[in-house]
Amino acid sequence: MTAPASSLSAHGDRHFDGLADKFAASLYGGVRGELRLALLDQLLPEMLELHGQPLLDVGGGLGQLAGWFAERGHAVTLAEPSGEMLARAGEFLAGQEVRLIQAPLQALPEQAPGPWSLIACHAVLEWLGDPRTALATLAGLLAPGGQLSLMVFNRDALRFSNVVKGNLEKALADRLEGRGERLRLTPISPLTHAQVEAWSAECGLAVRGVAGIRIFNDYLRQPPQSDADREALLALERRYCRVDPHWRLGRYLLYTLVRPATSPETRPPLPDTDKESQA
Ligand SMILES: C[S@@+](CC[C@H](N)C(=O)[O-])C[C@H]1O[C@@H](n2cnc3c(N)ncnc32)[C@H](O)[C@@H]1O
Repeated sequence: MTAPASSLSAHGDRHFDGLADKFAASLYGGVRGELRLALLDQLLPEMLELHGQPLLDVGGGLGQLAGWFAERGHAVTLAEPSGEMLARAGEFLAGQEVRLIQAPLQALPEQAPGPWSLIACHAVLEWLGDPRTALATLAGLLAPGGQLSLMVFNRDALRFSNVVKGNLEKALADRLEGRGERLRLTPISPLTHAQVEAWSAECGLAVRGVAGIRIFNDYLRQPPQSDADREALLALERRYCRVDPHWRLGRYLLYTLVRPATSPETRPPLPDTDKESQA
């Protein structure tokens, strides 16, 4: 199936109509997909405080993450603008109680305002024309004390892998992003850790945790050849995914961003007894 040459939405975003098969094979097929899911299975319970709270999964794609949360007792709402991806998610999640809504992130303040105590937005911001405003929109959907599990495609890792592959001129010119054309899966807005830190601070979100997803795999000269090699690679990815400097070159960066329970302006004054005990 061929998508039209100009594949961007009115907001300049790349909805994945026409890309479902390619995405399924490229991102979830083979070792890459196995590592991504195995690492999320380890990291989500470590990085999030989970107690079965409702979850909004923004840009939920084929539904793997929604399924993971639904299996653990969360009432999941999956929002996704692409009708093709949403249909595939519906098939994948058949039999699970997941509410599906066809909507882009920008429409969620009207269509799923919450406020939500738990939101996931994985591998979506890098496909948007204006990821900075999108992060502010997500922050606005969070309840006080709410957690956002954010995963973004790492621009610095993209540079590194281009150099490793010998694309030196491209790296030198810093021509790293894709243009969202046809069936290409190079994100149009890969992000740096510095951007995520700065934009989170702008919209009042605290960075509570960060990890790298696939810190080694995408730089290998040859893929693991045996089951033993695959296991050793997974063990290495698990051991170093939160260790500096390795996490910084993960193909994706996974964050827990938290909206403070009360902002300084709205925090009620301490009662006199508390003031004394804190003196
Ligand atoms: C790389 S896929 C990630 C899917 C899923 N979150 C995952 O981690 O497997 C990016 C998804 O973002 C969706 N998307 C694109 N623009 C969007 C927007 N404005 N709002 C919400 N989702 C969007 C695409 O249609 C696609 O399903």
